[in-house]
Amino acid sequence: MSGTQEQTTPNRQGVPVPQLLRTDTAAVDSGSARRLATDGYLPLPGLLTADGLTLLRQEAAALEALAGRRDFAMACMDDSPRHMTTLGGQIIAETSQTIPALYQDPHLVALLGQAAGEPVTGITDPVERHVLNILHQAGDTHGAHTDDQPYALVLFLEAPADPADGGLLHFLPHAGSLRDLDTAHGARTVHHRPGDAYLLRSDTTAHRVTPLMRPGLRRTVLNFAYTTPTARPHPTGSATELYT
Ligand SMILES: [Fe+2]
Repeated sequence: MSGTQEQTTPNRQGVPVPQLLRTDTAAVDSGSARRLATDGYLPLPGLLTADGLTLLRQEAAALEALAGRRDFAMACMDDSPRHMTTLGGQIIAETSQTIPALYQDPHLVALLGQAAGEPVTGITDPVERHVLNILHQAGDTHGAHTDDQPYALVLFLEAPADPADGGLLHFLPHAGSLRDLDTAHGARTVHHRPGDAYLLRSDTTAHRVTPLMRPGLRRTVLNFAYTTPTARPHPTGSATELYT
């Protein structure tokens, strides 16, 4: 299928994929690649359109019925905690047309390449390529880790309005170890709103999601994994543990 056909194909709700995102966002400019390389993190505020946020929330709500609860310590990531509900890409692809189409949308992939300063491509692993992460109980957290793939685009569908309620991204670029996230100078904690997104240099940036601080809060994101033509894979098995 050509890119042009993909761009104009409506999803089940009749909204063309390009209208789900603001790919002309001012957040990506000639300095983005340098900032991403330095900070490990590039905020993309308001990347989702109002239609995009509404539609992806509907998709996520339907998918949540298929998602599984995960409560364990991940051995390959220094026993960091996982208290969350997840759904892997292989189930999402069987159920959603919109999310796989958005993942490979040429406008989005081009935007990410511009932001990264190098070509990015989708990955072939059906489990890891696009996943759903839901924190919905007090204490829920996605503990410290690095990703197997070099780039992660995270799209916020739900998030606590108040940073004091947790669910924040805590990250350290160019981390020597996951322990450095708590001790090293340079770690940052950032808050996002529904409709926001960020691009992370996710294989070298240690990162986690801080715990939800009380009942009644929800944080729902889609995580899209991308690679580059020159990236060397370093699979850890973490995606298999969390999403299968
Ligand atoms: Fe991650």
